[in-house]
Amino acid sequence: MKIGIDKIGFYVPKDYIDIVELAKARNVDPDKFTIGIGQDKQAVPQPYQDAVTMAASSADTILTAADKKDLGLLIVGTESSVDESKSTAAFLMDLLDLPEDIRAFEIKQACFGATAGLQTAYDFISNNPGKKALVIASDIARYGIKTPGEVTQGAGSVAMLISQDPRVLKLDHKSVYKTRNVGDFWRPTFSKTAFARGKFSNEIYVDFFKTLWEKYQTKYDVTANDFSTMLFHIPYTKMGTKALRTLEGTVSDEKYAELTDHYQESIKFSRAVGNLYTGSLYLGLLSYLVNGAQAGEKMLLFSYGSGAVGELYSGEIQPGFEDVIDKASLLKMLDDRQKLSISEYEKLYQIEYQDGTIVDSAKVDAKFYLSEIKENERLYKKSK
Ligand code: COA
Repeated sequence: MKIGIDKIGFYVPKDYIDIVELAKARNVDPDKFTIGIGQDKQAVPQPYQDAVTMAASSADTILTAADKKDLGLLIVGTESSVDESKSTAAFLMDLLDLPEDIRAFEIKQACFGATAGLQTAYDFISNNPGKKALVIASDIARYGIKTPGEVTQGAGSVAMLISQDPRVLKLDHKSVYKTRNVGDFWRPTFSKTAFARGKFSNEIYVDFFKTLWEKYQTKYDVTANDFSTMLFHIPYTKMGTKALRTLEGTVSDEKYAELTDHYQESIKFSRAVGNLYTGSLYLGLLSYLVNGAQAGEKMLLFSYGSGAVGELYSGEIQPGFEDVIDKASLLKMLDDRQKLSISEYEKLYQIEYQDGTIVDSAKVDAKFYLSEIKENERLYKKSK
């Protein structure tokens, strides 16, 4: 049975900051941020937006009434959940008008959550042919104003519909993985912002990639020549570049040039959006599908979640995938955003809704939004 990604959708908040302006405001050489880190713009969410509203927004771009009828599983991968008990997935049931005959839950393992969701969905479809699974990655990446990690923030969501006979990416069901208890990145329950040992995290990430790539080649008796594309978890685009560079000299110059060209296509959206945490790898996939992919291409996907779990798996781009990707709408969503000044972004960053807040819907510029916090319960609405 062929199983994989049948549809893929994306949502990014409507505001962003320019990375060169951020560099200037922080007295940093802009080249450090645009070349050294590899970012151009950073998405900024409104206070009425969170992992729930963004998850609803990305899923809303791909789900039809027929898809909803066939859904049996809904998984949200996130590390910016709004509740320690109730899952982000449960909030989506009425926002997306989903039938109750669904198993819905949330997965957290830093940036690995969506991949855990995708592999779980694969198994679900194997056992329930004819059903569909919705896997959503939704996160707000926050390190704090004037921290070294500030340039690697971002926000957004990617939704993927997993089914039999997928039209976008068939998963090979070939994968290798690895878990180790590592202190490279963490966010205690009391904190809105993450703590990171950024350079250490880079080392572990590259080490995981190298180990898993060796393991994959041995397990499946393949080489880089069996693939034309490698996609990476890209919290910021320089990070994937570092993993890719480990292949230089170990593969032919032509293969390395091809992988590098394709990688450049896969990072275009991330450069313009920033860090989606667990959605980052899948934003890379979407960017590649829009900007460079060819039907029949074999690709490898490297997923990494600090703490740390890594997985390397493979898939094949399906004929006719272009017909399923709404390229014009995706590009329009990125183009239609408005730029905030750095001081506007800093002010927005400080706003945190407390119990008793009622959001003025007239000031909301999003289809799904947090409407109220009542008795410490977050209540959501869909704009008419
Ligand atoms: N022009 C071009 N490049 C420049 C430069 C300039 N003027 N100044 C510095 N650089 C380069 C550095 O050489 C370095 O490149 P390298 O990583 O290839 O060596 C890069 O810019 C970053 O510089 P560095 O001094 O290491 O930056 P930093 O101390 O501010 O830290 C991070 C950068 C990424 C470690 C920090 O932003 C961070 O901790 N981010 C969060 C970590 C994270 O996202 N983890 C994800 C876990 S999955």
